[in-house]
Amino acid sequence: MLDDQIISVKEILELEANNQKIEVKGWIRNKRGGKKTSFLSVNDGSTINTLQVIAEGQLINEATIKDITTGCCVQINGILKKSIGANQRSELFAKKIKILGLADANEYPLQPKKHSLEFLREKAHLRFRTNTFSAVFRIRHCISFAIHKYFNDRGFYYINTPIITSADAEGAGELFQVTNLKNINSSDANYENDFFGKKTNLTVSGQLEAELAALGLGKVYTFGPTFRAENSNTSRHLAEFWMIEPEVAFYDLKKNAALAEDFLKYCINYCLEHCKDDLLFLEQRLASEESSLKKELRSELSLIEKLVHVSKSSFENLTYTEAISILKNSKPNKKKKFKYLISEFGNELQSEHERYLVEKVFKKPVIITDYPKKIKAFYMRLNDDNKTVRAMDILFPGIGEIIGGSQREERLDVLNKNILDFNIDKEELWWFLETRKFGTCEHSGFGLGLERLVMFVTGMKNIRDVIPFPRTPKNVSF
Ligand code: 4AD
Ligand code: MG
Repeated sequence: MLDDQIISVKEILELEANNQKIEVKGWIRNKRGGKKTSFLSVNDGSTINTLQVIAEGQLINEATIKDITTGCCVQINGILKKSIGANQRSELFAKKIKILGLADANEYPLQPKKHSLEFLREKAHLRFRTNTFSAVFRIRHCISFAIHKYFNDRGFYYINTPIITSADAEGAGELFQVTNLKNINSSDANYENDFFGKKTNLTVSGQLEAELAALGLGKVYTFGPTFRAENSNTSRHLAEFWMIEPEVAFYDLKKNAALAEDFLKYCINYCLEHCKDDLLFLEQRLASEESSLKKELRSELSLIEKLVHVSKSSFENLTYTEAISILKNSKPNKKKKFKYLISEFGNELQSEHERYLVEKVFKKPVIITDYPKKIKAFYMRLNDDNKTVRAMDILFPGIGEIIGGSQREERLDVLNKNILDFNIDKEELWWFLETRKFGTCEHSGFGLGLERLVMFVTGMKNIRDVIPFPRTPKNVSF
């Protein structure tokens, strides 16, 4: 242990109080009381809970007490005593308070009252100091840690794939171009003169590079930022999001789906075990938010019940063709029909269809496999029917698609044909194709959108509230 380490509020609250001397640093959440005695709530971000500090007029001078306002930063030395109050186990009796940073009460935006999430989004530089966002970001950390632990414990290697690339892995064309050419719009823009000597973009996925690594290291995963210029201003899309992409040699689609299910449950259980206080806080927050809604719009399960339910249920497996047939024979609601018609074979499932299957039909996560090849990426393994590919999407309640993955096409001739059919420049992918030319094998992988999982675990309804600094169309502040 480093000997100059500062003791955190979390550690203090775990101590058995017996008049020990304590020094704590943190931010004032609230000040109550009067001339003789003031009660200060101090939080330092280590926990959702606050330390109650008692500042008595005889020991702490009046001017200091007066300067203490919500948001100011303090250093407090005092004695930790058992509390007689019912709200906390212990409290700190201040002997000395030093104000490290004032926060003018007339200007500080975060007063001790409920602020809307929209308001706090505009204050993303300060929202780490609120209960809701500190809880969300502690949980985000916990999930990230669980992800590394899950793969490390199972012999996967963490691979860093490039952020700048000349490939378009998904072929969806939603690319952010990276260039330092001055005039890219002129028709004579010559990418030979660009920094890399060819047209480049921010990566939409590390999958193609992860495949190369898996076909040598066996089991790998990536965990990095991904960029998509989708102009969809929804509550589930970001222009910059974090994706985890495991890739495994010798895995078929079935093993891939089993890995994804086990992995998701592990991450959820890890949070249930390690983020109890934060989850309880978010659960209450959600319940109070929903209390003003009509009964049918409220969730049937509490946040924690929902997490336990998903971690204990076995995910429903069905093919795209089966999903279409269920949707065709169902009426979501007597009055309300689907906005988009249930398509014939070959069309995308809309998110209303996905959510209907998960939330109304099966009431648990659903894995849909074997999609029409036309609507999926060029690298997916073609089935013998010549019409469908070994793709899988995992759909979650309240979220929709949380994971997309597939078994990969390992046969060089089929892959070459796909590249032609999808109109992809073969020269650009020579390295990818060589892994099929030399020592090819069955392999599979998937991509998890980190923010979608954080949304699910925290119950937050807008993806902008689960990433510290969201990037969305027309929004790049902070
Ligand atoms: O389904 P996607 O596009 O799959 C891939 O990128 C594959 N290369 C993955 C693989 O097989 N290795 O994206 C994977 C996941 C989605 O299921 C979703 O959770 C998330 O990434 N995602 C987004 N999250 C936030 N904002 C966006 N714009 C997202 N687009 C995809
Ligand atoms: Mg997808």
